[in-house]
Amino acid sequence: MSSQYETLKNIFIDSVERDAYVELESAKYNYKLLESSLDKPLKMLLLFGRPGTGKSMLLNKLYHNLKESREIFYFEAPILSEKEFLRDITESISSQKIPQNMRVNFDALLKYCRSIKGKREIIFLLDECQLYSESLMEKIRLLSDTRVVKFVITLHKTDNEEIIAKEHFKTRIWEVVEMKSATVEDLEIYIRKKMVKKGFMEVANMLRKKDFKYIYSHTLGNFRETNKYLYTVFDIYQYYDEVESHKLSTKRFSKKILEMAALRLGYIHE
Ligand SMILES: Nc1ncnc2c1ncn2[C@@H]1O[C@H](COP(=O)(O)OP(=O)(O)OP(=O)(O)O)[C@@H](O)[C@H]1O
Ligand SMILES: [Mg+2]
Repeated sequence: MSSQYETLKNIFIDSVERDAYVELESAKYNYKLLESSLDKPLKMLLLFGRPGTGKSMLLNKLYHNLKESREIFYFEAPILSEKEFLRDITESISSQKIPQNMRVNFDALLKYCRSIKGKREIIFLLDECQLYSESLMEKIRLLSDTRVVKFVITLHKTDNEEIIAKEHFKTRIWEVVEMKSATVEDLEIYIRKKMVKKGFMEVANMLRKKDFKYIYSHTLGNFRETNKYLYTVFDIYQYYDEVESHKLSTKRFSKKILEMAALRLGYIHE
């Protein structure tokens, strides 16, 4: 018989899926901001924040919510080859397949965009833009200057690199939506909802305020870090469940296991 903890740990594997989305106050605010900004005459919007703060998750939600009502395209993984990128953009705009060996003429693409001005408004959601080259970003800017195509650009923030300070990002008109790490309250909601959604209400109820505070003290509200931590916690739970399950309380969450996981991940040291 497989342990329920095995199912539980798998809930916390990183994945960007619409069904897994958990509504959180901070993300809700940013979602609204993003959605309303799309109605403004802005050419580029920037979704910005540290790795693991939920940018891809939000972008994915935006796509699924708007795809029936808007002309919207979602580039989940960055397309690094300029040739391929322009081909994909052109195929999306024209709804026509372009032969593999054919190169898109960029000027012709701009011209085409200008010819449909006022008739169509096309949105592209681009994730992981820190990986795009400067030359490609310049093309994206030129395309958005036609005012036919709008881009939502997602970038992650790192310590050593002030990426938005770079010239090609700084001088464009756009709205910046910044994703922040979760508060301890949001983190609690995140963990609870993820468990309850999959039918683990009882285990979720074993977690007390102080446990959430403890989790927060190690993950600082970063979702990816929280996933990693809870995965490890339930991995250890699974082990004890299989070898000496009588020792596991069904009323209280094990502080000892929370600590063992923190040790395993190097958050604390013996
Ligand atoms: N609102 C949410 N609902 C459910 N899960 C979420 C939410 N936000 C974040 N997550 C979880 O956190 C993980 C990391 O989030 P995400 O991939 O969106 O971060 P990111 O900001 O795009 O990071 P990076 O800059 O590294 O691309 C996701 O795999 C998902 O499991
Ligand atoms: Mg991402």
